[in-house]
Amino acid sequence: MNKSSYLDINRFISDRIFSIIADSAYESGVEAYVIGGYVRDCLLGRDYEKRDIDIVVDGSGIELAIKVARRISPGIKITVYKNFGTAMFRTKGHIIEFVGARKESYSSNSRKPVVENGTLEDDQNRRDFTINALAISLNRNSYGKLIDPFNGIKDLDKRIIRTPLEPGKTFSDDPLRMLRAIRFACQLEFDIHPATFKSIKNNAERISIVSYERITIELNKILLSNKPSEGFRLLYESSLLKIILPEVYNLKGVEMIEKHGHKDNFEHTLQVVDNISIKSDSLWLRWAALLHDIAKPKTKKYIEGTGWTFHGHEYVGSRMVPGIFKRLKLPMDDRMRYVQKLVALHLRPIILSQESVTDSAVRRLLFDAGDDIDDLMMLCEADITSKNEKKVKQHLRNFSIVRQKLTEIEEKDHVRNFQPPIDGNKIIQMFDLKPGRQVGYLKESIKEAILDGIIPNDHEAAMDYLIKKAAEIGLKPVDK
Ligand code: CTP
Repeated sequence: MNKSSYLDINRFISDRIFSIIADSAYESGVEAYVIGGYVRDCLLGRDYEKRDIDIVVDGSGIELAIKVARRISPGIKITVYKNFGTAMFRTKGHIIEFVGARKESYSSNSRKPVVENGTLEDDQNRRDFTINALAISLNRNSYGKLIDPFNGIKDLDKRIIRTPLEPGKTFSDDPLRMLRAIRFACQLEFDIHPATFKSIKNNAERISIVSYERITIELNKILLSNKPSEGFRLLYESSLLKIILPEVYNLKGVEMIEKHGHKDNFEHTLQVVDNISIKSDSLWLRWAALLHDIAKPKTKKYIEGTGWTFHGHEYVGSRMVPGIFKRLKLPMDDRMRYVQKLVALHLRPIILSQESVTDSAVRRLLFDAGDDIDDLMMLCEADITSKNEKKVKQHLRNFSIVRQKLTEIEEKDHVRNFQPPIDGNKIIQMFDLKPGRQVGYLKESIKEAILDGIIPNDHEAAMDYLIKKAAEIGLKPVDK
């Protein structure tokens, strides 16, 4: 991006909303500026049309917000946070947030700021990075002027993340900013200035005072960027990873016994995460990729003659998922169970593709994966990170056979969302049983017979099979 493109700032504030803010501020005798992410993303040409807009006011942000909202439409719902001196509302797909310019100091062991009114300059001073401290004036005598006290433009040009003040000061104001630096570097494909990164290393321990809810927002943004590996390498190097996600940190390293090493599971994992192509709904698939080998350090064993093994790591790993999600304050609902399931099943397609692909093995995989079968296949393909091209090609060929088989069997047998053709109640009625072991056994026998291809997945066949199986344990249908 060249400098001349920055001169044309007015096009970023051409929407009617900005002139309404300007007029309202003028009438109230206060000054207003657009600041932060909106300005940064405009200058980067980065999808700014729908993003949040932050307005800083050298006066009451709440009063100006109310005035502007009334002018747009009397019906707009305004949310006011009195304690923080902020107010926001939604219009035309944007959230507009107003805040009074602040001079903040934070107490050393909490993020709760002690808010004091200040000037625009004070407000810019207390912001996290030079590229986030850029402001555009909405005032009559300087409308469209860019106010850039820390050379944020230069840093945007050189693609550098740097704190406006001495980094130790900026990070001690809010230690989450260490993680934000890495998130922005990864998301925007910027470098972190050496002095800023050094300070992150020195202050990493301070991340422990930050709530996991805030940490996770940043981790998710890293996972949703083009190359999450870049972010995770920085998290590793800075030691932040060791504190916030030690399970992933522990994947790093290669152990050698008798000249035999295993692959570095950290680097492998990052490659798998990067390999999952990014769509708006792939966050949880990327979490599954990040955690798919999480139990490798725990299950690692060197067996003479065989080499390194990680026996059962998929099951041990899947059992680790709820604990990690709980600690990180990630959702404990279907999204967690989805990650857990993919971790548990991540070896199944590959094992299947190495053996002869029998119908019954395919049916079992479809049954276990259900609607997540396509995601599981994506994870497995992403999991092939060998440098040996021949090996990779062979695996992918086998996978396409598995995929083809999956489609064929699903069309034929419909086991993807398997519902047994005869349920427990029917069995109880037919044989006049009480709920219990025998009912479970008969139900399970029908399911197994269908998955093994002994009988087709239909009612009549299941009925015949049930009568036969019941007879084996001395049960006869009762006449009713
Ligand atoms: N900010 C800060 N320190 C923080 C969080 C935010 O100084 N810990 C400031 C930055 O100036 C930032 C602005 O508040 O630009 C808005 O913060 P936020 O909405 O969290 O981030 P954005 O920069 O808008 O970026 P994104 O929307 O990508 O998160």
